[in-house]
Amino acid sequence: MPSHNDVVEIVVCLGSSCFARGNAENLAIIHEYIQGKTLTASVRVTGRLCQDECKQGPNLMIGGQIHHGVTTERLRELLQQSGGHLGEDHGTA
Ligand code: FES
Repeated sequence: MPSHNDVVEIVVCLGSSCFARGNAENLAIIHEYIQGKTLTASVRVTGRLCQDECKQGPNLMIGGQIHHGVTTERLRELLQQSGGHLGEDHGTA
């Protein structure tokens, strides 16, 4: 169970290739997700520069795990899967 001290880090590649290929939109989806949920863990969203993996982009990392070719649809799946790590409140209290 996540505690209030847990921090889940989401790192978005902000290099020009990843950004143009989808991470600009992905960043907006991440912010929308965080704002629309009741989370018990803290989420830290940061950016990074190009990691020379542009061909596999758009790339981003959630909780230390890198994901390649992250479409907006795939990102929504990843965020839903991460819901447990983020202590997502499903209103079952
Ligand atoms: S722009 Fe993201 S890896 Fe190069």
